[in-house]
Amino acid sequence: MTKIGVLTGGGDCPGLNAVIRAVVRRAEQLGYDVMGLKGGWRGLIDRKHEKLTLDSVSGILPRGGTILGTSRTNPFKRPEHEEALYRNWKDLSLDALIAIGGEDTLGVARRLHEKGYRVVGVPKTIDNDLGGTDVTFGFDTAVAIATEAIDRLHTTAEAHNRVMVVEVMGRHAGWIATYSGIAGGADVILIPERPFDLDEVCTLIKRRHARGKNFSIVVVAEGATPKEAPGQATAASREVDAFGHVRLGGVGNYVGEEIEKRTGYETRVTILGHVQRGGTPTAYDRILATRYGVHAVEMVQRGEWGMMAALRGNQIVSVPLSEATAALKLVDPETFRIAEVFFG
Ligand code: F6P
Repeated sequence: MTKIGVLTGGGDCPGLNAVIRAVVRRAEQLGYDVMGLKGGWRGLIDRKHEKLTLDSVSGILPRGGTILGTSRTNPFKRPEHEEALYRNWKDLSLDALIAIGGEDTLGVARRLHEKGYRVVGVPKTIDNDLGGTDVTFGFDTAVAIATEAIDRLHTTAEAHNRVMVVEVMGRHAGWIATYSGIAGGADVILIPERPFDLDEVCTLIKRRHARGKNFSIVVVAEGATPKEAPGQATAASREVDAFGHVRLGGVGNYVGEEIEKRTGYETRVTILGHVQRGGTPTAYDRILATRYGVHAVEMVQRGEWGMMAALRGNQIVSVPLSEATAALKLVDPETFRIAEVFFG
């Protein structure tokens, strides 16, 4: 019987369980066995796994997190991990593997495919910055959470005549900031793609206050950087993960302090953090994740190795992992232009 492994890697996001459920349900119809690998690539290195049945995935569709656990393990960092992965793949008699993840997890999947392993991918990240697909699941939920937060901050900002700075996730790309900023009516949005000038930010806020609006909302992506130090994002700690990424966070505090200092307007900062990744997925993400999961099993059935399920327009298609991991998908100028119409 065909045996498919499935794993979830990288930062979690709402919708992972919906993909796992769809994989197991479609695999069962095709007569495949599904083995869940625990904790991302670590599950294959340490041989931590469980057989997934209809029972194990019952009731998980609306649940956040991942029943398989996740990690940022990079098996190519240490030769003994790489060897263990190959050994366990063979010992577990895996015929194929479905890797659910973002640029790092799918980068590993691509390399395994190049070495002849039968791997397919499913695109996941709240940041929505993966290439090859129009949208990753988890993003819509993160935008909904950030938008709700902005709405709530609006009323208190207005009551106190304050500037509210909201820091949202987005390491390399400002999709969450741009979308939640547009949806929440932000007065300024700062994203990694466009290094910011604080004097320009303050001019926009003052212009707004001059026309009688004595409160403002500034949305900042965690990876946004000032023009004086482009690309040097504010780190919350010096720790680096197995893929070489530092933990970001704190740019909002800097922006908030400077706005208060330069404008004299009372300012408060909210860092949304992991609240954006937790809890139940939106209906949109549940549907997208389900479509990706079904498609991934059908990619296995068709032998589409080295491919990733992707959304193009409103169709789910298969695209090469090499294309999906070649370059990050950044916020396009046209979308940002729409956001800018409402600045200041
Ligand atoms: O990759 C998704 C993401 O949420 C980024 O936006 C963020 O920088 C990072 O993960 C946070 O990672 P961690 O869960 O390790 O704090």
